[in-house]
Amino acid sequence: MAPNPMPSALTFELIAKCSVTKARASLLTLPHGPVQLPVFMPVGTQATLKGVTPEQLEGTGCRLCLNNTYHLGLKPGQAVLDAVGGAHKFQSWPHNILTDSGGFQMVSLLELAKVTEEGVRFLSPHDGSPMLLTPEHSISLQNSIGSDIMMQLDDVIATTSPDLARMEEAMHRSVRWLDRCIAAHKYPERQSLFCIIQGGLNLELRRECCREMVARDTPGIAIGGLSGGEEKDSYCRVVDTCTGLLPEMKPRYVMGVGYPEDLVVSVALGADMFDCVWPTRTARWGNAATSSGTLNLKHGNYANDFSPIEEGCTCISCRPKSAGGLGISRAYIYHLAGKETAGAHLLSIHNVHYLLALMRSAREAIIADRYPQFVKGFFGKLYPDRT
Ligand code: GUN
Ligand code: ZN
Repeated sequence: MAPNPMPSALTFELIAKCSVTKARASLLTLPHGPVQLPVFMPVGTQATLKGVTPEQLEGTGCRLCLNNTYHLGLKPGQAVLDAVGGAHKFQSWPHNILTDSGGFQMVSLLELAKVTEEGVRFLSPHDGSPMLLTPEHSISLQNSIGSDIMMQLDDVIATTSPDLARMEEAMHRSVRWLDRCIAAHKYPERQSLFCIIQGGLNLELRRECCREMVARDTPGIAIGGLSGGEEKDSYCRVVDTCTGLLPEMKPRYVMGVGYPEDLVVSVALGADMFDCVWPTRTARWGNAATSSGTLNLKHGNYANDFSPIEEGCTCISCRPKSAGGLGISRAYIYHLAGKETAGAHLLSIHNVHYLLALMRSAREAIIADRYPQFVKGFFGKLYPDRT
């Protein structure tokens, strides 16, 4: 035992390792219950998944979802969060919450956000007044939210940026901001703070960042700055390099990743946790995630297709009435698409369920030591003509 271990609000147990790839199955225990890894975490930006109630989210099997510090800090705001006793109570969600720190959302959503050593300066989207999000303020907000996992404030640069000097500065600044976040964190025994590895597509910067971040011994580690339109092989090289340098006994979270193919590949590269708005956003465009690919149910082909969104899917939307589900057909989604929001809600539930179930079956395959076969089967169904 190390002397004076950092107080921690999580335990991490490795259950199985693939004998061929770097895939792992593990159990993450957080203050609001256990989470089986690998896991997909749906994103509820405004303290709700768009179009999905907490009860419906629970029904998909989700036990860990995302909220955004930036959005909750603006509205309802810290005073309301303190008064109600945090985001779990506010949104009546009895399971775990992970909060992103806010910087990424600001820089990606607001053109006028400006990063300095102090923090991220921006104009309030509500009244245009100048605001500053510092590492200390982000942590204070996340302490008020009471999330089970908190993320450090980081300096995120688009991976496609050609400015290596700026990339290096952002990486070092993210390390300095982690130190400020650790110092500001009031409840390490109740909430786990994760660091975020930056460094763009430059593997030397990534390696240096891994060394610096790992030395700070946070209870979990994220790989950030990806999913910004980079080539798949550059993406894979970064994830592979980072997971190779991270301690085995800590959860690894690749931020902003959510296409089914990317999840399956990233698990093989040793990643455990993922989040993305994709399943809910694409549902609002009428898209259904299925094991044979994404179907656009707004297409006239589906007007007379009375089969479920995906045959055999056990989500509440697809499950037949006789099995306690809603028995929703493709034709019904086609009919609602673009006119009635209920169509997007039913499809969001299906899509979130699909990604959660995908990670559950990946986990079972890892435990049975047949992950390579699982990957082959997954891609074979997705691209039947290429195998
Ligand atoms: N979401 C997706 N990528 C990132 C990242 O690099 N940092 C943060 N904080 N959030 C993200
Ligand atoms: Zn379904």
